Formats: sequence, structure tokens, C-alpha cells
Amino acid sequence: MSDATTTQPGAEWWRTAVIYQVYPRSFADASGDGVGDLAGIADRLPHLQALGVDAVWLSPFYRSPQHDGGYDVADYRDVDPLFGTLADADRLLAEAHDLGLKVVVDLVPNHTSNEHEWFQEALRAAPGSPERARYIFRPGTGDGSEPPNNWQSVFGGPAWTRVADGEWYLHIFDTSQPDLDWLNPEVPAMFDDVLRFWLDRGVDGFRVDVAHGLMKAPGLPDVDEDAITTGSMESPFFGQESVHEVYRRWHEVLAEYDGDRMLCAEAWVHPLEKMARFVRPDEMHQAFNFVYLETPWDARRLRQVIDESIAEFGAVGAPSTWVLSNHDTIRHRTRLALVPQPPHGVGIGPTSVSKADAEVSLRRGRAATALMLALPGGAYVYQGEELGLPEVVDIPAEARQDPTFHRTNGEMWGRDGCRVPIPWEADAPGYGFSPNGASWLPQPASWATYARDAQVGVPGSTLELYTEALRLRREHALGAGTVEWIDAGPDAVAFRNGDVVVIANVGHDAIDLPAGELLLASTELHAASLRADETAWVRVPR
Ligand code: GLC
Repeated sequence: MSDATTTQPGAEWWRTAVIYQVYPRSFADASGDGVGDLAGIADRLPHLQALGVDAVWLSPFYRSPQHDGGYDVADYRDVDPLFGTLADADRLLAEAHDLGLKVVVDLVPNHTSNEHEWFQEALRAAPGSPERARYIFRPGTGDGSEPPNNWQSVFGGPAWTRVADGEWYLHIFDTSQPDLDWLNPEVPAMFDDVLRFWLDRGVDGFRVDVAHGLMKAPGLPDVDEDAITTGSMESPFFGQESVHEVYRRWHEVLAEYDGDRMLCAEAWVHPLEKMARFVRPDEMHQAFNFVYLETPWDARRLRQVIDESIAEFGAVGAPSTWVLSNHDTIRHRTRLALVPQPPHGVGIGPTSVSKADAEVSLRRGRAATALMLALPGGAYVYQGEELGLPEVVDIPAEARQDPTFHRTNGEMWGRDGCRVPIPWEADAPGYGFSPNGASWLPQPASWATYARDAQVGVPGSTLELYTEALRLRREHALGAGTVEWIDAGPDAVAFRNGDVVVIANVGHDAIDLPAGELLLASTELHAASLRADETAWVRVPR
């Protein structure tokens, strides 16, 4: 149990926190096998403290055959040898807490790995057995050789795979990720234990993978193809109302613990009103604001999504979150410069990414970050964005690892481009990611300039911009503030948050800054005005 006390409702740490996402495979490799590990993360925690974030979220480090970067869990209560041991996890938790950093871990409840003992038992058991009933096995259609319905995997291809005795099992993601049947009481009971296992070890919360997917529509009806082509996120396997029962239950489990433990939903649902249902007072605490992430660099649409987010989350008493990048999406500096902007990572292909303009992209990426970090609520930062890393678009086919790439025969690149191990030292082998230069995805030859040691203390560097923004955000309590809109023209996103006026220039023409003390500029300003793709924070007391 953590010794932290529980605060008054409304003052919990997660309401205003900036949470840094670590993708363990690609953060820091202490062992030298080319894959990051828990010891590597622990060694580098002081850098995250210096950056000024409040918490760290770790993508999965559990036992896994790694067919989907660890989102295919074979044992929820153990650390994969690739990443270390349970003792390493305990050390990481203790050291983070000593540095004043909270730790959020990933929970993957929609599916297990096909190497999980439950699925292995299911394969050995007969159709209709209790072992099969923990997953979604069905007979095929026609003579049995056609899948039970028309559902497609998010990673491409059919969402069903046939086993030797003729039955089919459902996998909304890769074939190696069989979906659990959440109507079977054994499944929620197992996850109660998993929550408690990690809560007892002292984790401060969970990021809940595919939180919108656990329940499937009764009878597993075919997907309405017309609904899909009109861009609706509704489907018989995503966004079912019954998922909320699960989170009400988990809310109670967390409430047994002190220290304001939290749950954050990864729920790709539209509209925001539906997303906000995940954070009603008796459910989760945060939800990733993917509507914000998917908003293009367009002033009107940004103003609109900010307004709607604050209104919809506020209506259920929750803070909004803000997020621009993660391990599933094209890094935001690259994505925001693409024309047209693709919806998100899994769907990108060669044609979309090659059009990004490198210079526009860094300016715009930094301006977008400076805007995001001034907004009230929680914010998520994905490892490497503080270094200004772009999406890597030229990974050779033979080096690509994302199942999406292989399931679509290369038509969709998938997400390797945002998962390339990050650079720490400009002159070290592998930029200091590993002791010997080993790296599970190739690192671009041009990345020395992005290395942390090439940016720390360097005025104007992206790392200094993030560090200064996080310091000022805290000093001016922006996370706990409010948005009061200011009219600075159609191409501006301009508002006051407390004593800070924030203006982002999302158009082409210069925009004048108000008189006051310039606190932060996303690129060096040459006059008291903002050029295209620049954001400034100005202290203007009332
Ligand atoms: C989530 C994860 C993603 C993973 C998928 C299946 O969307 O963020 O990385 O592939 O779930 O677990």
C-alpha cells in the first residue's frame, strides 16, 4: 500500500497532472540487447524529474511474446525477462516515488496473448467447454469454413481465426490477441486480482487499453458496412454501453486504496459526450482526449474542440485531458504538417507521410505543444516529443515489426515510425539508447541533433521549451485554471488562463501580442507579434 493520503475531492493529483508516456521497448536499454528495459527506465528517471512532469505511464512490460509490442499479455502478474524482473519493477516504483513521480501502468483487459495459460487451456479443451468460454469461440458459417461474422481486425484482415477442430475465435487485433468474454464471471474476477496485485505494489493508477471494446453486441451481429464508410465509430465490438459496468466495479476496487489511485480510459469513441461517459463520478478518472489529438491545425476547429472538451468533461465533473502523440499515432510534429491529415497511426501509408514538410513540421509541432500545455486539465506527453522527434518514415520493410504492416502486406505502415528508440547522447553508439548501439528498430543517421545531451541547457531547443513550459504551467497553476476566450482574429487560438494570455497563430498573417511580460514563445520571436505556427504565453495581470 502507498503511504500517500487521499485528498479532498477536486484536488486529486491527476486532475492537473502532466503524465509522460514511456514506451519501455524504446526508452533506455540497460542490458544491451537492443530493447529497452525497466533498469534503463529507472536509471533515467532523474531526467523526467528535471523535465518537470508529474507522473510516468509505462506501456506494458508484462510477460508477452511481443507480437504487438507487449499489448499481448501472457502473464499479467509478471515482468517479461526482456524488461527485467518483478524486483526491477519494485525498484522502479520506489525510485520514482522518491523523486516525487507517480507511476501509472498499462492494463490490457480486452484480450490476452495466445500464449496466456487460459488460451492454451482453451485450445486443448473441446468446443463448449468452460475453458473455451473465457474467450469468444464460435462455429463458422456456411459449411463452417466461413468466419462467424464479417468483423475485420483493426490491424487488417478478418477478426476471426479457425482452430484445428473447426471452431473460430475472435481477435479484434492480431491473431495472437484472442478477445476475452467479459460476460463470463471468471474474467472480471481475474482482473480484480490483477488490479490488486499492482495496487498492492504501489502503482498510482492504470491506463486501460481498448476500454471501449470489452463488451460485444449480443448475438455478435455483422458490422453495417455503410456505417463504417460514413466514419462512424459505432460498431458491435466498440462503444457498447455495457462496458461501463466494468469501470464502476474497478472504481470501487481503487477506492479501497489510499493515495488517489486513478484509471485512464483509452477509448476511441465519438462524440466527446460519449467519451465523457467513461469518467462519470463512479467510473474512471481520466480519458485520453483523442478528439483533440485528431483535430487538424485549424483555428476554428481547435477552438471548438477545446470548448466542447471542457464542457463535456466538465458536465460529469471530470477534467479534460489533452494529448497530441502516443505509441499508436504519427508523431504530432509530422502529423500536423500532413495534407490531408490522416486520422491516426494504424491507417497511415507511404503516400501520406512523404508529404510532411520538415521545417513547418517542427515549428508547428512546438506551437501545438505550447498551446496544449497551457490548457486546464491533465496532459500527456509521449517520450521523444520533448526532443522534437519526427515520425521515422523510411524504416526498411524487413525491419518493420508492427503486425499492421504484415497483416496488410505493407499497405499500411503501422506504428513503428513513432516507436524508434530515442536518442540520449549525440556521440554515443545508438545515441546512448543502449550501451553498445543495439536497437530493435533502426535509428535514423540524422538523429544526433535531437539527442538529449545536445539540447539540455541550449536556449531555444525543443527540450528547453518543454522544460520551461512545464515549469511555468506549474508556477501559474494553468492545469487548475479556466479558458476565457479572447478575440485575436479568425486564425488565432487565443485565451486567458489566470494571469496568462495564450495565443497560437494557426494562420499565415502575423498576429500582435498584448502588452505584458513574455513568458514563453514556441520559437524565438523577432517582434511583438507572432508569425505562422507560433504560440506565446504573455503575463497580463488583470
Ligand atoms: C491499444 C494500444 C495499441 C495496441 C492495441 C491492442 O490501442 O494502444 O498499441 O496495439 O490496443 O492492444
